[in-house]
Amino acid sequence: MGAPLYTIPGSATPAAGPPAAPDVNAAAASAPDASGMRTVNQVLAHSQAGAVIDELEHDLIGLAPIKARIRDIAALLVIDKLRMNLGLQAQAPSLHMSFTGNPGTGKTTVALRMAEILHRLGYVRQGHMVAVTRDDLVGQYIGHTAPKTREVVKKAMGGVLFIDEAYYLYRPENERDYGQEAIEILLQVMENQRDDLVVILAGYKNRMDTFFQSNPGLSSRIAHHLDFPDYSREELGEIADRMLATMNYRFGNGSREVFDDYLARRLKLPHFANARSVRNALDRMRLRQASRLFADRYRELTEIDLTTIEPPDILASRVFTDA
Ligand SMILES: Nc1ncnc2c1ncn2[C@@H]1O[C@H](COP(=O)(O)OP(=O)(O)O)[C@@H](O)[C@H]1O
Ligand SMILES: [Mg+2]
Repeated sequence: MGAPLYTIPGSATPAAGPPAAPDVNAAAASAPDASGMRTVNQVLAHSQAGAVIDELEHDLIGLAPIKARIRDIAALLVIDKLRMNLGLQAQAPSLHMSFTGNPGTGKTTVALRMAEILHRLGYVRQGHMVAVTRDDLVGQYIGHTAPKTREVVKKAMGGVLFIDEAYYLYRPENERDYGQEAIEILLQVMENQRDDLVVILAGYKNRMDTFFQSNPGLSSRIAHHLDFPDYSREELGEIADRMLATMNYRFGNGSREVFDDYLARRLKLPHFANARSVRNALDRMRLRQASRLFADRYRELTEIDLTTIEPPDILASRVFTDA
């Protein structure tokens, strides 16, 4: 098995291709040999962005509209690169995004993948993600907010700044709210440093809509709005299968049916948080499985014993007892 040919876009490689002219448009600074690329496949293969997109397709259950949007965005960026290679004038594309949807629908997970895709395609230098909320940006006292926000922006430079529940930045009910100061700095950075920082604002759809209405400046700087749907019960079941498999567990005889019943009940209860609730439910089932095995001091435990979630591990949940 040969080592994967992984080249960070922007780094020099000995591969063939005409020497690149100094790239003034640093936004999409490409490797010297990347400028010789003329096909979509060359760009995808060279950057390995294609691999990240494929992984995202395979690893994440459901999310069809989100996956389609990400493919569209990737297509735009790849074509943009090919245009640049032919010297076609282009502005650094605006890549700031909003990810709306209920808790546990995969916003943070997809943002991490997005950071990686942007990095592979050379739109950000490092591809790391800094995830923050209002408290990380806004200070308690006068003069504290600007340095706080700038510090966060500095950390995120070269990657993605993910602002969760972004609408908390805006508190019109407070006459002198420091959140506004943070928003103004973000606006400047989103405009002036968009060639090396991508901002993703995340949160509930309706609150984000209101937030954008009150902050048209921010809204106009967001190029892509991605709305994450709730998962269906079937998808939640598949997510559970996937999560269990990665943790080296499995549903035993009859357990999958019981879990499906669990999901049907849990979906109707308050604070249901999609895939996150699935993860939490699985954690509790593992606890119960452990207690069950722990109680049997002298039994030799096989691999099957240690990896199997049995129906009682699920049925002990409160969703089956509470009316
Ligand atoms: N489509 C999916 N397939 C598999 N696991 C998922 C999917 N969406 C979310 N998850 C998992 O669910 C959990 C919550 O997802 P997260 O991205 O934090 O949601 P959000 O940021 O929207 O609240 C994470 O553990 C994540 O790995
Ligand atoms: Mg999240």
